[in-house]
Amino acid sequence: MHFFEEKRKEVMSHIEPHMLEKMFEYLKPIDTIWQPSDFLPDASRSTFFSEIKELQESAKGLSYDLIAVLVGDTITEEALPTYESWLTMVEGVSDNEEGGWMKWTRHWTAEENRHGDLLNKYLYLSGRVNMRMMEVSTQYLIADGFDIGTGHDPYRNFIYTSFQELATNVSHRRVASQAKKDGDALLSKMCGVIAGDEARHAKAYKYFIEKIFEVDPNEAMLAFEDMMRKKIVMPAHFLREVGLKIGQTFGHFTDAAERLGIYTALDYVDILKELIEDWHIESATGLEENGEKARDYIMNLPARLLRVAERMKNPMLEYKFSWING
Ligand SMILES: [Fe+2]
Ligand SMILES: [Fe+2]
Repeated sequence: MHFFEEKRKEVMSHIEPHMLEKMFEYLKPIDTIWQPSDFLPDASRSTFFSEIKELQESAKGLSYDLIAVLVGDTITEEALPTYESWLTMVEGVSDNEEGGWMKWTRHWTAEENRHGDLLNKYLYLSGRVNMRMMEVSTQYLIADGFDIGTGHDPYRNFIYTSFQELATNVSHRRVASQAKKDGDALLSKMCGVIAGDEARHAKAYKYFIEKIFEVDPNEAMLAFEDMMRKKIVMPAHFLREVGLKIGQTFGHFTDAAERLGIYTALDYVDILKELIEDWHIESATGLEENGEKARDYIMNLPARLLRVAERMKNPMLEYKFSWING
């Protein structure tokens, strides 16, 4: 176990300079990147109330399921303290508080923090949401934490975050196009810019893993296999509402997303395929026997998951969320 941790730390410090070199390709300058206030009514303007009225008019057209997905997405973003504290516990991240990995973690967190901020304010102004109920769920989710099956292993963690950033890119992008169809151009624009951030973050995490594959291919392959065997769970899998037990709301949230086609079992397979391609899994060299077996498992997985996905029925159960008014 000790050797394992030492080796991981060694690889992390090997990648650190590469990461620092690329960091600002994957993150944008703070002074010029979008901020929530770029999209929201400005309370210092005399037109504030008419702008809110307009915002509420277009929000009226959003379907019940779309609001449910949006609230779930917002709570997921608002649980950022969980993700930041988790990242600092990853092997090799916080050894040096001023080091590159801590710098990455802080800058990544700082960009992500705008997502929950923007969505939360929008939902508040929209008049469609029972804010207290949403806030209770948010507090619960942060208090409950998560269990993503990575331990403190950087390989498993960055495989997880690569997958997860791609998944959030898909879901915010789909919410954007659904909002547009429902006549809410503002929400559509907001979710579009959030999706853009997620895409950049995905590129960064994919790059870290690509670098890890270069120097430690066998262990990287085993980590990838392990994460896929466990299945990538969403960070909000402990989601609940007032009076419910831990995780009891999560399935209803994902059902709504599946029904609307915001994030489906097919998207899961597509993301897996993208990672297999980007990390050149098929042509990876330097594998030992267990690494070869892990590769076989990964290469066969998309087809297997597709067969399962095809048999799945669209979830029909309609559920009344405490988060939504009326
Ligand atoms: Fe985000
Ligand atoms: Fe993200």
